[in-house]
Amino acid sequence: MAYRWTNTLTQADITPKAAYLNRRQILAGTVGLGAIGLAGGAQAQELEPNTLEEITSYNNFYEFGTGKEDPARNAHQLVTSPWSIKVAGMVDNPGDYALADLLDGLTVEDRIYRFRCVEAWSMVIPWNGIELADILNKVGVQSGAKYVAFETVVQPDNMIGVQRRVLDFPYVEGLRLDEAMHPLTIMATGIYGEPISNQNGAPIRLVVPWKYGFKSIKSIVGITLTDEEPPTSWNKANAREYGFYSNVNPNVDHPRWSQASERKIGGGLFASRQETLMFNGYPEVASLYEGQDLSVDI
Ligand code: MTE
Repeated sequence: MAYRWTNTLTQADITPKAAYLNRRQILAGTVGLGAIGLAGGAQAQELEPNTLEEITSYNNFYEFGTGKEDPARNAHQLVTSPWSIKVAGMVDNPGDYALADLLDGLTVEDRIYRFRCVEAWSMVIPWNGIELADILNKVGVQSGAKYVAFETVVQPDNMIGVQRRVLDFPYVEGLRLDEAMHPLTIMATGIYGEPISNQNGAPIRLVVPWKYGFKSIKSIVGITLTDEEPPTSWNKANAREYGFYSNVNPNVDHPRWSQASERKIGGGLFASRQETLMFNGYPEVASLYEGQDLSVDI
């Protein structure tokens, strides 16, 4: 796979994790990302990524249990090779694609994104991934398609959360087609230049940085183009609390907690909460929702 760089780093900079952990290089990368991910330099300064340790030890992956440390403890049981993705529905080239074939010829980019969970915690994560639009263009989206539905693998023998039926599995998610085609939306295959860990959704997961984290479905085995709004796991579990859009919005509180501020993981016990930004600090997506009332379309 080729690398297309969205910042001032060169390909030679990618390999060692130490290079990513160097603060100056992180900031250099972040400033370069301004054009894609951020409104301006002031916000860019806040994007100092969390450590790999933090990113891989505080997770939500209910297939492996409901505790934050359960995925790190249990996700080694996930079998990620071989891996194939079933592409179905309103596409020109449906089929069961080996992951490498689906991604062949597409460009892996590095994207340092804010990540905001609906539970009001946040991280900053340096992803490596492919724009979802590139994948969709490769399989050929047909003209009537309006939504993209995603599905996570189910490996009952390896997934204690599936055995305990803590949710109605498989975990499913969906995006409107224009959201899916937005250049900020990626399918992540790595973090800090390393293959994505199992607990973070190996070998490939969705990342939509302006939406609450639960939209970022992990370990994807199904992508279906459809003309109907697809069901989503958390909406099925509790429709009053979780809508289809789930855009980060500090003005619309979750029924059980405020969304006005967030706790940045790794900030320490006494760190003050930080203000939550509309669309999680990605104002360039606002035009997708023109004419919609985002206090109704939650
Ligand atoms: N995907 C699957 N398949 N199962 C899950 O339980 N949890 C979601 C999302 N994707 C989840 C999932 C939630 S609630 C969040 S906040 C993010 O994954 C957490 O991603 P992280 O563990 O990589 O930080």
